[in-house]
Amino acid sequence: MIEELRAKIKTIQEKALQEIAALQNLQDWQNTKARILGQKGSLTQILKTLGGLSPAERPALGRLVNEVKREIERRLQDIQKTLEETKRRQVLKEKAVDVTLPGLALPQGRRHPIRRVMEEIEEIFLGMGFSIFEGPDVETDYYNFEALNFPKEHPARDMQDTFYIGLRTLRQGSGQATDHGLRTKEKEQLLLRTHTSPVQIRVMEKQKPPLYMIAPGTVYRHDDDVTHSPMFHQVEGLMVDTDITLGDLKGVLHHFCAAVFGTDREVRFRPSFFPFVEPGAEVDISCALCKKRGCRVCGGSGWLEILGAGMVHPAVFEHVKIDPKRYSGFAFGMGVERIAMLKYGIDDIRLFYEGDMRFLEQF
Ligand code: DAH
Repeated sequence: MIEELRAKIKTIQEKALQEIAALQNLQDWQNTKARILGQKGSLTQILKTLGGLSPAERPALGRLVNEVKREIERRLQDIQKTLEETKRRQVLKEKAVDVTLPGLALPQGRRHPIRRVMEEIEEIFLGMGFSIFEGPDVETDYYNFEALNFPKEHPARDMQDTFYIGLRTLRQGSGQATDHGLRTKEKEQLLLRTHTSPVQIRVMEKQKPPLYMIAPGTVYRHDDDVTHSPMFHQVEGLMVDTDITLGDLKGVLHHFCAAVFGTDREVRFRPSFFPFVEPGAEVDISCALCKKRGCRVCGGSGWLEILGAGMVHPAVFEHVKIDPKRYSGFAFGMGVERIAMLKYGIDDIRLFYEGDMRFLEQF
């Protein structure tokens, strides 16, 4: 009986140690431990049978079982450490960052080409001492046309295909005439401004000369083809002071053209008509592609029109109550899209508004 039990314990020990040595992971370790040492484990079962032994036999066998149990526990502990270490390494390996891998390139935003050109234009004029002003996109007929000397029903208004919005009733109250001669209760025509020139009027109403300003902004016209968009951008310029001459206008615009297009481009002034200036001119730069020999880009003329300009018309000064005998000034206005197209050799204005990254990323 005793020898039998000893042999049984030995077998249990050997088998247990083998199993423990073969353990590969903590899950199996857990199960094995429970199986060997748990309530239903083989060693526990043996311990229970010890009760049936004689008091003389019991202590020796009891010791043996306990020794075996302790050894098994020790081995379990050792292998647990090993398994935990293995697992820790494995997790580290899985989570490891390979610092030699190339980084993830984050998509980088950039300014739209129109915005860039606009800011470039602003910088040039700020550098010459001009200030920046803004006006509303929704204008009245008065600021967009009348104060700029476009008489009512005058065909010059057809130069600009206007988006009309509706009529606004002037605020009721005092019954007095407003600044520009309208009576309250009268209706005022609202429209989307067709150019940035009305900002000239708004600024001159509030501020007396000397005045050196530009007004960048969005303008709207009923127009849509490869060189025209219903919404586009302009930068208006105005310089009013005593003794401003056409020579000042030429000087400022020559400097501007050289700064935007380079000093190798020629600049020419060509007489033209705009109701709010007299004399009026259109300004051209020589075509870079054909060097004035004439090509497809410049339509064979050798020149590219870039802006309109002129000396402020006395009728405009009268609207804003600036004395035309004391002050003189010049104004100019340019299309930002047009400048950008010429600068970058773009032949379709719609490219600016399509949001195609392949186009936008080139700037
Ligand atoms: N406002 C004109 C347009 O949109 C451009 C222009 C021409 C502005 C001559 C000016 C100017 O200030 O003097 O076509």
